[in-house]
Amino acid sequence: MAEEHEAVHDAIAVVDFGGQYAHLIATKVRRLHVLAEIRQPEDPLEAFRKYRGIILSGSPALSSFGEDSEYTKGIYDLDVPIVGFCFGHQEIAKHYGGQVVHGGREWGPASLHLVRDDHPLFAGLGKIERVWMSHFDSVVSVGPGFEELGYTALGEGGEGHRFAAIGSDTHRRYGVQFHPEVDDTEHGDEMIANFVLRICGCRPSWTMERYLEEQVERVRRQVGDRSVFLLASGGVDSTVAAKLFAMAVGADRLHLLHVDNGLMRKDESRKVVEMLRALGLGRHVHFVDASDDFLRALAGVVAPERKRAIIGETFIEVFEREARRLGIEDHLLGQGTIYPDTIETGGTKRADTIKTHHNRVPIVEEMIAAGKVVEPLAELYKVEVRELGEQLGLPRELLWRHPFPGPGLGVRLLCSDGIEDREGFGEIEPAAARVAGEYGLSTLALPIRSVGVKADLRSYEHPVLLHGDPGWERVLEAAGMIFRHVPGVNRCVWNVGPRLPREARPVPAGVTRERLDLLREADAIVMDGLRRSGSYDRIWQCPTVLVPLALDGQGRELIVVRPIHSERAMTATPARLPETLLDEWQRSILALPGVAGLAIDVSTKPPGTIEWE
Ligand code: XMP
Repeated sequence: MAEEHEAVHDAIAVVDFGGQYAHLIATKVRRLHVLAEIRQPEDPLEAFRKYRGIILSGSPALSSFGEDSEYTKGIYDLDVPIVGFCFGHQEIAKHYGGQVVHGGREWGPASLHLVRDDHPLFAGLGKIERVWMSHFDSVVSVGPGFEELGYTALGEGGEGHRFAAIGSDTHRRYGVQFHPEVDDTEHGDEMIANFVLRICGCRPSWTMERYLEEQVERVRRQVGDRSVFLLASGGVDSTVAAKLFAMAVGADRLHLLHVDNGLMRKDESRKVVEMLRALGLGRHVHFVDASDDFLRALAGVVAPERKRAIIGETFIEVFEREARRLGIEDHLLGQGTIYPDTIETGGTKRADTIKTHHNRVPIVEEMIAAGKVVEPLAELYKVEVRELGEQLGLPRELLWRHPFPGPGLGVRLLCSDGIEDREGFGEIEPAAARVAGEYGLSTLALPIRSVGVKADLRSYEHPVLLHGDPGWERVLEAAGMIFRHVPGVNRCVWNVGPRLPREARPVPAGVTRERLDLLREADAIVMDGLRRSGSYDRIWQCPTVLVPLALDGQGRELIVVRPIHSERAMTATPARLPETLLDEWQRSILALPGVAGLAIDVSTKPPGTIEWE
């Protein structure tokens, strides 16, 4: 796919040395209307030849590449500008004869003093710039042809650092120790723009208008005289994809299938089918209630990854069966897969499989290899999909719906075999209590586990329930301290209720219609409250989760609500909701038969993921 842009657009390669930084950099470059693509450090040199510039990203691990870093060093022989950020900065310094030492750690804001404020990389900037640092190793000298472009000073009398920005105009190689891609670097966007537009000379041609034209062309070519059969969940991605397909191949050759997998929100399937029909997306909007198939396949399954795999496979089974039943032959499977979906699955060497996305399960991978899948959004981030949707004239409220995962409530309905999961559990309770105690909070470690992400690796660890009211900010602080000091914890949830339960015990619970109905009710209350209080548009997403824990000996379960702010779902922070809303939920959700407790997830991502499984 990417090859097709080659001739048309100037593009930048962002080399992903780990962490989420590469995505952030890519989005920032794309905002300049220049295509940026993520590349892996060990990609063959050939893969780098088409770019007009290369950005080497930072790395979260302190010296993940160490002295003997292995990656395609041939990029340094390419005749295009290269800039490195943080870890990338050190790599460039080293490669050209400079010296990097362990130590000299800087963390947080710093003042960058520009020695060469006339340099194109810093055009339009002041002599002193506020930048954001996060590094352990430091550049202490540069090789021949390189000069110091800037150094840092850490406030009054603080110890500064030389070589915070370096460069060689002969080699066209540059490096900055700080992270221009994060918002805390005040003029980071300008620095990135200077590199991409001035130094690399990229033409800003990668606009959504052009993207749309190109994808329509591409879809037409790939589909030929066949038809497209698209699973339409009603979410932003598949609806934008549907609209694009309709434009490319015409409504006659577009079949939309909405599957009720039994894991949808309350009344959702009916609304989705109505919406798809009302939008005039294709003459063929099919609906199938396959909830029995899904629930049967999921019966007795507890492990999150197993559940995800089953849901993905069942989708395909239902899809193929419906295609046969409807007599739709010679079709391609249309998917609204977006860029991060293809990365988070661990499609790359360094990315650990945190969660397998349902549109990347093995059977779909096989179909992709056989050329049977068409995915016109696979190069876009969510914000770009929304922009494309606007371009396509889709209604705003549809485009700004909160994301909803493909496996639906399946990843929000935790299951248990009823056996206490005490792996690494013993140490948590006293340590968490000690930390939380300093904030006036009491704690209860929960003997179940949920998925999280730590240093870019999947974690499957315990939540800690906090109780007390030192104020929102203090609760978040306490959670942060627990994550830092208590191993084995990847989430903290804050009790909404008059008292802390004395005990929590897992109850045997699977994916059943009864439990799903209960979760649907709680979720409907949450969504309704968010809309009525005007909070819906202020937050990114708000999953409601059912956790099979009996509190205080009662067989009923725990509901957790997870309101978050996020920009691209790679990271997230807990969103504060109005007190009145929490009070209202306390009354209505705790009144649901089957619910014994309510808590708000106050975990950042990392270490918690947005979804619990
Ligand atoms: P996590 O839980 O990994 O989620 O922090 C990041 C974003 O992705 C959504 N999500 C999914 N979306 N299929 C999807 O289409 C999936 O399997 C899936 N899993 C998570 C999640 O809701 C959040 O917005």
